[in-house]
Amino acid sequence: MQPLSGDQLPHLVTAIPGPASRAQVDVLARHECPAVTARRTRRAVSLGAADDDPFVWSDARGANVRDVDGNVFVDLTAGFAVALLGHAHPAVVAAVQDQVARLPHAMGDAWPDHARIALLDRLAQIAPPGLDVALLGLSGADAVDAAVKTAVVATGRPGVLAFDGGYHGLALGVLGLQGYKAAFTTPFAAVTHGFVRHVPFGCPRATLDDALADGSIGLVVVEPVQGRGGVRVPPDGWLAEVSEAAHAAGALVAHDEIQTGLGRTGTWWAAEADGVVPDLLCTGKALGGGMPLSACLGTRTVMEAWGASTGEALHTQTFLGHPVGCAAASAVLDTIASERIPERCAALGRTLTDRLTARGHAVQGRGAMLGVVTPHSLALCRALQRRGYIVLPAGQRAEVLCLTPPATLSDAQAQGFVDALDDALAEVTA
Ligand SMILES: Cc1ncc(COP(=O)(O)O)c(C=O)c1O
Repeated sequence: MQPLSGDQLPHLVTAIPGPASRAQVDVLARHECPAVTARRTRRAVSLGAADDDPFVWSDARGANVRDVDGNVFVDLTAGFAVALLGHAHPAVVAAVQDQVARLPHAMGDAWPDHARIALLDRLAQIAPPGLDVALLGLSGADAVDAAVKTAVVATGRPGVLAFDGGYHGLALGVLGLQGYKAAFTTPFAAVTHGFVRHVPFGCPRATLDDALADGSIGLVVVEPVQGRGGVRVPPDGWLAEVSEAAHAAGALVAHDEIQTGLGRTGTWWAAEADGVVPDLLCTGKALGGGMPLSACLGTRTVMEAWGASTGEALHTQTFLGHPVGCAAASAVLDTIASERIPERCAALGRTLTDRLTARGHAVQGRGAMLGVVTPHSLALCRALQRRGYIVLPAGQRAEVLCLTPPATLSDAQAQGFVDALDDALAEVTA
């Protein structure tokens, strides 16, 4: 099979899903917990779909994904916003291959390795001013978990203030923070974080002050632009108000930039647009360039609240600072700078927004993190998939079609998507 170029338009050779995908999904269904991958039978009931098995990914490059039947797609999700540089960026692949051949694993908190040290040094250079001390993790949830623990040790307070529509991962330590879907938390209510308060995203200062008034809140966690909650941009000046209210009440602020960070919204960090620097910043997704890696960045003062390790680290895991992930992340950070990814995301966002609004669509978001407002997002995702475009819905009522494409999406791919969207919309509204 020809290697993918990354800037191809869709090329479909079977119905979607094709026979090879169907056969593999049958195996998956026998051996994977049924809560993970939606299949046609269960989704048919909930979504009214006749045939909704996923197609099975085989290889990916740039903005292209190919399935096991040889169908080529254009990925407008960048794989949950991970492939910001494009899938399998050559610089990341080279860094991973080099590192995995030399040292695939080191010993977390016990013996450090060069890849981890180099990454921490590099992260400090690109972090917002003052946030030059980090706790590394493997997932976004790990990074937010580290922020919650850091705030507890730094403030002595157990409480967290979070926002309706917010999403910070589903691991038990952070599950209670999400305000996106009650169904995610309800079955585990008895074992989730017991001190979380939620207020509306973008709420007035008085609401923030009220929620913080009793002095139990040590941390306010906020996405500068809500992702899964519907690609929602808060009102101008609101992030600054959140910081002012939190600090006045003796709480720390963590920005969850796991989706928004590293150039996605047109600047290295989304909160730059608001001129706000938090006490803690969580980054992940694009950071590892496809390898699982995340970080909670903080100020030295806040991070020193942990105290020095006396031999047994208070916060660690077997794969802390995984060398291959760290080598990949250093390559990612270099590439973001050398390929001017923030500027390219800003330009791509303008192109997509202009073309979509010219066709009458309402678009929200910032940079290359956009939501097309539509009541038909679920049906559109399936109709677009049949046309070779991968998209996901977002929002508590699936009210937007979420676009987080690779920054490398070509002009022809962007135009192809805009045309396919209209075609798909005509089909689902017929
Ligand atoms: C803003 C935000 N925070 C945290 C997470 C959780 O990251 P992970 O799924 O890697 O745990 C996500 C994932 O979508 C996210 O969008």
